[in-house]
Amino acid sequence: MSKQTISILDNTTARTTDLPVIEGTLGHPTVDIHALNSKLGYFTYDPGFASTASCKSAITYIDGEAGLLLHRGYPIDQLAEKSSFLEVAYLLMHSELPNQHELDTFVSEVKRYSIIHEKLRGFIDGFHYDAHPMAMMVGVVGSLSAFYHSELDMEDPEHRRISALRLLAKMPTIAAACHKHSIGEAFIYPREDLEYCENFLNMMFSRPSHQQFYIDQHHYLDPMAAKVLNLLFILHADHGQNASTSTVRLASSTGANPYACIAAGIAALWGPAHGGANEAVLSMLEDIGHPRRIPEFIKRAKDKNDSFKLMGFGHRVYKNFDPRATIIRQTCHTLLDNLACEDPLFDLAMELEEIALMDDYFIERKLYPNVDFYSGIIYKALRIPVNMFTVMFTLARTAGWVSHWLEFMSDPNRRISRPRQLYVGVGPRDYAPLDKR
Ligand code: SDX
Repeated sequence: MSKQTISILDNTTARTTDLPVIEGTLGHPTVDIHALNSKLGYFTYDPGFASTASCKSAITYIDGEAGLLLHRGYPIDQLAEKSSFLEVAYLLMHSELPNQHELDTFVSEVKRYSIIHEKLRGFIDGFHYDAHPMAMMVGVVGSLSAFYHSELDMEDPEHRRISALRLLAKMPTIAAACHKHSIGEAFIYPREDLEYCENFLNMMFSRPSHQQFYIDQHHYLDPMAAKVLNLLFILHADHGQNASTSTVRLASSTGANPYACIAAGIAALWGPAHGGANEAVLSMLEDIGHPRRIPEFIKRAKDKNDSFKLMGFGHRVYKNFDPRATIIRQTCHTLLDNLACEDPLFDLAMELEEIALMDDYFIERKLYPNVDFYSGIIYKALRIPVNMFTVMFTLARTAGWVSHWLEFMSDPNRRISRPRQLYVGVGPRDYAPLDKR
């Protein structure tokens, strides 16, 4: 272990203290400030956690300058090219790639757990028909905690493993059921003869009342859909301490039920600055409406007095390029060519991308299209309803959330997350009775 320290001098009191520097396997050295308050009486202030490592993790490494993303050491481009989503999920959860037997067992367990309790469907039915699917996801996944609570021993690693598996397995079934509810169609049961993405598409698009089964007749979508979905799910599976994963960890730190913790992650993902961006990209494109209006929207994005931002552009960590966006961009173009998509929004998106990438404002701030600029466009090409885009992100990110939950719960040094605050309110004062105010 490194003996490097960093000295802090308090100019007011002339007191100094040495803080240890911790080295990870890769990446920036990190100052361990946990004793700062006891030594010098200070807290640190870091809005948005721009310089703060909130935990140690061995799952995902990101180098934002180099555009590097590794899962358990494996580069994302290799995983995207060679593996399946469930293989990546196994890798994230178990630290190593599975051998054939381990993968087969994992896949069959996921299939076995994909069915949902009939009573859970009652929760979905309770939503109004026009409820946003993400609102349903937050509620329904949270309500799994009511089904799996009393027998759950979170100190038992096997109980934790099963909880993680259940979440991964049931998420597509719940997501498709929410979609079916919102369009007033019958629930489609999961099928064990289909692989993960095929099964999801079948539950989304099959219509038994018309004797039409998506997967048998490829009735509604191009057969390459499952393949593309598999790629998108791999690219979205995990991304370190993003807002939703940090939320899952924070909720878990209280010892809360895992299904409730993942519901908290879903809620955090929904925002347009995070996973909701893929849906927001499509709304933005619709608002722009025509290529001739692009300059007007670019101007608005640059205007500090306008809250409008170019959705799908920029990233907290990537200041060069998002390696996932590079992979997905290629797929996006191939898919649009193959499907011979004639949707004018696609042409508009490609033109917006081109214009923004040449604009000084975006170049200076290193604002590039992120993974969600393209994912929304691809989901649209696959005919996934726009209000389901962030739900798609939820399915994929569940692999990451449960892996971080497993890692956190097995950490012998885990503590409740309890940030401090810099109080800027009114100082102590006396209560005045109503007639004296
Ligand atoms: C995801 O964290 C993750 O890992 C997330 C994620 C994952 O896999 O989990 O990768 C998924 O959430 C992708 C991000 C999706 N969100 C969007 O596409 C929404 C649009 N993007 C922005 O809102 C924004 O870029 C964020 C939220 C992604 C990042 O916000 P930061 O880190 O707070 O941005 P910043 O402060 O570093 O911005 C620097 C400058 C600012 O201008 P100045 O004050 O320096 O003049 O760039 C400007 C910002 O105003 N800016 C933008 C912009 N994004 C940043 N200006 C116009 N349009 C934008 N999209």
